[in-house]
Amino acid sequence: MNARVVRAGGKVILFGEHGVVYGKPALAAGLATGATAEVEPASAPRLSIEPWGVSIEPVVAGSESFAPHAQLAEAFAALLSAYDTTPALHVRVKMELPSGAGLGGSAALSVAIVRAIDGSLGITRTAAEIAEVAMHAERVFHGNPSGVDTALAAAGGVALYIKGQPLRPVRLARPIQLVIGHSGEPGMTKETVASVARQHSQRPQKVEQIFAGMEAIVNNGKTALEDGDLDKVGQLMELNQKLLLTLMLSTPKLEEMCTAAVKAGALGAKLTGGGGGGCMIALSADVPSAEIVQAALQSLGYKAFVTQVGEGTP
Ligand code: PMV
Repeated sequence: MNARVVRAGGKVILFGEHGVVYGKPALAAGLATGATAEVEPASAPRLSIEPWGVSIEPVVAGSESFAPHAQLAEAFAALLSAYDTTPALHVRVKMELPSGAGLGGSAALSVAIVRAIDGSLGITRTAAEIAEVAMHAERVFHGNPSGVDTALAAAGGVALYIKGQPLRPVRLARPIQLVIGHSGEPGMTKETVASVARQHSQRPQKVEQIFAGMEAIVNNGKTALEDGDLDKVGQLMELNQKLLLTLMLSTPKLEEMCTAAVKAGALGAKLTGGGGGGCMIALSADVPSAEIVQAALQSLGYKAFVTQVGEGTP
């Protein structure tokens, strides 16, 4: 039995969230932090997650369950259904990211579980195949996920993602410094994705126009990142945030954070992920400038950290 500890990272969406659910591109970057997992033999499958203090058995969807963590239990069952025979393993996960923050925590969790189970069963898969298995759980967590979170959790790096297509790695001119700020409000990905779907069915033309704008931002953002034109990247983040605001995906707190970040010298800022709460990201020219932005967010009472993305991207 292989009790190797495996890991999977979270992600930030630099450009293009929500449009990506409708087949538009998104540009995302893997985070070093995410989740770790290991397995041990057990009489029946079990999933424990720290520091959440959760320990559950899988519960198949549709079975009447009022158990706490029912969604997690259903997601675990969905993941296990991807295996020919249900593996009798106790999967122990350590989460390093908050859940519902828009940082791809649930995808990191799912990918780490798949890696741990695969490792102990001697199954070898490509990153894309791992992401596909992890999607079984993501569908339970998010309803209609585009797959960007699981793809990035499995592959890392910075990449352009289009639903149903292989990830396209993006080579940055140099790594970039981001400040990630947490609004303290839970992210509402399932709800915001559903809200955009309602808006799309009510006013398809208007929403398609917004998505077309996002697509242009993603493509220009990719070029600006490849060229190392950080001012341009920042401007495009600002534009992307305006479009997300138009779709009612931002909140007063996220707006306050984005404004404060830019006032403190960030080149641009936007919410990241599903919105409706969760996290925002701000781009800084260098580490000292990022630390000033971080301090500005912290002085308003928000949790914030500085991270570098794009290092060692292929
Ligand atoms: O909130 P997160 O980290 O799960 O990101 C969601 C990104 C969306 O584009 C809003 C949804 C999706 O499935 O791509």
